[in-house]
Amino acid sequence: MDTLSKFTIPGILLVLTLSFGFWLSHLGKPYNSALFNVHKLIALGTVVIAVIQFSKILKGADSLALIIVLLVLAGLCIIALFASGALMSMGKMEYTLALTIHRIAPVVMVVAMVLIAYLLVRNS
Ligand code: HEM
Repeated sequence: MDTLSKFTIPGILLVLTLSFGFWLSHLGKPYNSALFNVHKLIALGTVVIAVIQFSKILKGADSLALIIVLLVLAGLCIIALFASGALMSMGKMEYTLALTIHRIAPVVMVVAMVLIAYLLVRNS
């Protein structure tokens, strides 16, 4: 349970990131700059806090190899999210492709995170 509680703050921040993302998307282009920045900064905060929490929990965890593979997958999704988000706002990439990446990456990332949480909680 203690392990699970470490996911609470990153989880809340992720829900906020998603909510601001859908809100931003709903208002359409040109993007509302305040919402765009809030979405981007909460996303950044989520990543920083998740990394801090994971580094605390990972010490001494079982199934470390699998957890690391899943963490790399989640990391790639985060890079894809930041890159596609920036490219959408600059209009430098085909919009539908960037938006598709920006919609698929959070799903893959959440699945990877849930599996990591399951592996960590199972062994705690
Ligand atoms: C953890 C990181 C992030 C997550 C989970 C996330 C998630 C989302 C979601 C779910 C949407 C709504 C997409 C839809 O309409 O279906 C969205 C929209 C958007 N996000 Fe993100 N996002 C993240 C990071 C970023 C970053 C860093 C940027 C900018 C550099 C960004 C820029 C945008 C933009 C511009 C939209 C509006 C897309 C549109 O035209 O509909 N996102 N985001």
